[in-house]
Amino acid sequence: MMSGGWFDLSGRVALVTGAGAGIGRAIAAGFAAQGADLLVCDIDESGLTETVRLIEAAGGRGYGVRTDVSRPEERHALLADLDARFGQIDILVNNVGTLRRARPEEQPIEDLEYVLASGVLASYALAQGAAQRMIAAGRGGSIIQISSIAGVSALGRGNLTHSVNKGGVNQLTKELAVEWARYGIRVNAILPCQVRTESFVAALERGALDPTVQQRMLDGIPMGRMATPEEMVGPAIFLASDAAAMVTGVLLPVDGGNLALNAGGSREW
Ligand SMILES: NC(=O)c1ccc[n+]([C@@H]2O[C@H](COP(=O)([O-])OP(=O)(O)OC[C@H]3O[C@@H](n4cnc5c(N)ncnc54)[C@H](O)[C@@H]3O)[C@@H](O)[C@H]2O)c1
Repeated sequence: MMSGGWFDLSGRVALVTGAGAGIGRAIAAGFAAQGADLLVCDIDESGLTETVRLIEAAGGRGYGVRTDVSRPEERHALLADLDARFGQIDILVNNVGTLRRARPEEQPIEDLEYVLASGVLASYALAQGAAQRMIAAGRGGSIIQISSIAGVSALGRGNLTHSVNKGGVNQLTKELAVEWARYGIRVNAILPCQVRTESFVAALERGALDPTVQQRMLDGIPMGRMATPEEMVGPAIFLASDAAAMVTGVLLPVDGGNLALNAGGSREW
């Protein structure tokens, strides 16, 4: 066991994308509480300011960089910032994931292009940049993709861009895990069910989701409720830490049993 405990992240530097809200923010603050220092990015600067405040309150060093991860030049600038501020990266969390909903027979192909550019393509590019630095440093590292249950089964209701992107993220996870195991770089994915982030709750409150759809989501979760952003933190800390030293290439559902449940099954008798 490590001197600071199984899940100690002190001395580690983590980069978390899309950390200005939701799951990314919760993970960034959670890593800081385990001793990590953080570079966080987002397109929302005020959200980043609050996340940096939470990192510092948890005892970490935190810097926020306004970055649109879909843009190659902004990704390069982000990695240059990382080199200048820390000269080190041990953990990367590719958390940004966008979606554009439409009926597939009508959807403009540009929708899929943007979702893939900000999702699987940005995740690959940042993973590549992180791995080059981890390989040069010779200490290995942990790359975590925030995927979705939608990456392994279809949601319907116009979610094609999301599902196709997360399916790609899942295969990216497995390919990179196999390729980079020789360098001690572990690559894993977290697959959440519906998570009650502020933006998701706001969408529910303005009636963006039909109550029958909400009920169908709940019926699909044996735990009988949606997750909270904080419930993604423990699994992310585990995957980032030496407690997961032999864990790589894993698609970890954090979904209250959603993927375990057959569509014809139910938790009620
Ligand atoms: N909330 C859920 O129900 C749920 C379920 C499964 C998977 N996920 C996944 O979790 C991840 C985080 O989602 P969330 O629910 O916390 O969302 P969120 O909307 O609460 O936060 C996402 C953050 O990403 C930022 N962002 C969006 N596009 C960006 C870009 N191009 N570059 C940089 N930052 C950008 C946003 O400004 C926002 O701050 C996503 O990959 C999402 O697909 C969410």
